[in-house]
Amino acid sequence: MLSRRRLLTLGAAAGATGLLAAAVPQSSVAARSGASAAFTVPLPVPPVLEPALRTATHDIYRMTLKEADARILPGVTTRVRSFDGQFPGPTIRARRGRPVVVQQVNELGTPVAVHLHGGHVPQASDGHPMDLIKPGGSRTYHYPNDQSAATLWYHDHAHMLESENVYRGLSGLYVLTDELEDLLPLPKGRYDVPLLLRDAKLAGDGALAYDVHDIAARGTTMVNGVSRPYLNVAARKYRFRLVNVSNDRVFAFRLSDGSRFTQIASDGGLLPAPVPMDSIGLWPAERAEIVVDFSSYAPGTQLVLENLAPYPGEDAQIMRFDVGGKVPDPSRVPEQLRPLPQPGKPTVERTFEMTTDMAHDRYLINGKEFDMDRVDIRPRLGVDEAWTVSVPAGNYAMPHTFHTHLAQFRVLERNGKPPAPEESGLKDTVPLVPGETVRLHVRFTTYTGRYIYHCHMMGHSALGMMGQMEITA
Ligand code: C2O
Ligand code: CU
Ligand code: CU
Repeated sequence: MLSRRRLLTLGAAAGATGLLAAAVPQSSVAARSGASAAFTVPLPVPPVLEPALRTATHDIYRMTLKEADARILPGVTTRVRSFDGQFPGPTIRARRGRPVVVQQVNELGTPVAVHLHGGHVPQASDGHPMDLIKPGGSRTYHYPNDQSAATLWYHDHAHMLESENVYRGLSGLYVLTDELEDLLPLPKGRYDVPLLLRDAKLAGDGALAYDVHDIAARGTTMVNGVSRPYLNVAARKYRFRLVNVSNDRVFAFRLSDGSRFTQIASDGGLLPAPVPMDSIGLWPAERAEIVVDFSSYAPGTQLVLENLAPYPGEDAQIMRFDVGGKVPDPSRVPEQLRPLPQPGKPTVERTFEMTTDMAHDRYLINGKEFDMDRVDIRPRLGVDEAWTVSVPAGNYAMPHTFHTHLAQFRVLERNGKPPAPEESGLKDTVPLVPGETVRLHVRFTTYTGRYIYHCHMMGHSALGMMGQMEITA
């Protein structure tokens, strides 16, 4: 059944972000209205990148980071920072057990660091904020793909620049598949559609306007890089991979007729079992995969994907599904998706308190700003750890999302209670509103070295809400 807990969280987030919105000057509120025509553009799907070379064991890709012109609004050109000229970046399709190598050539005027979010990768390929690719430089990243099928994404991570770089376009999808998932009768091929969701503030001439604090003024929402598209769908089941690639935007989605859909996966891949829902929260960097069944609608039906948590005065309509004729549908959602092991009993306890000091514009974890020369924690490989992450009540009513590199974790408790079913799978990013505490089971099993954890509201990580860990054997 539909879980209540997560919806409460959403309500609280909407309230919290609403408070922030109240502080936005009227001029920007006016600037963001009337931004886009409704549903005139078909949904683009980011192209799948072809390897430059396929060897017996590896797929080798090459991308160039460069400026490009995007069409966020119909007929309006917006200059973006892009991977390979695409906005969002091209999709990499990877297979478990088959490593991928990506050479990134930086032709932008800014340093970058490319991070594979959710990936288990060696330190040198993690896009650590200090491992920069300077303008004119290049770097080769190695992705072993030794983990379960999941919807991952890549994005810039250059320290203090990541927020603006990502805002200006530096993100893309990385779909990892495996045999176990192939065996399930889920919708496949053209019925498996990624939806990369984000927002932005566009100036009058269509230029991206960036201000780290301006989060409630980003009134243009986009799906796969365009504002308010439509998608023609057959009257059958679809799998949608929702990815929130926003810097700071909290989404909560529902279908305009309130009908049910089924969540099948979270950040780290398939849930143990499908979860029926009628709305779904998606915070920055979170992924959720849902199956929507359009078979009961008459041809010609139009359904709108709505955002339940808009800022005051914002348009809540994100995209539209236009239902066509019936087609044969061999797909179904099985009752069991994949077993997940019980987390081991933690032998190490750590706490992370996320706070803001608005007077000094400081964003802190355990009272500290990020310092590349400091190691905050030293986890050991193979050890079961419990991480208690909290945002104190009343802390400027500021929501945060806690993310760690190099591991998917399990939520053991949210506010002292077992997590909702949709939060019980593999996660790498968890939302918190003020007053909330989550207890996570974390276990690093792959690589040693220096990695980071941070708030994935990118404005916050850029302002210091990040810590460093050194993982040792
Ligand atoms: Cu999306 Cu440090 O990660
Ligand atoms: Cu990450
Ligand atoms: Cu934050």
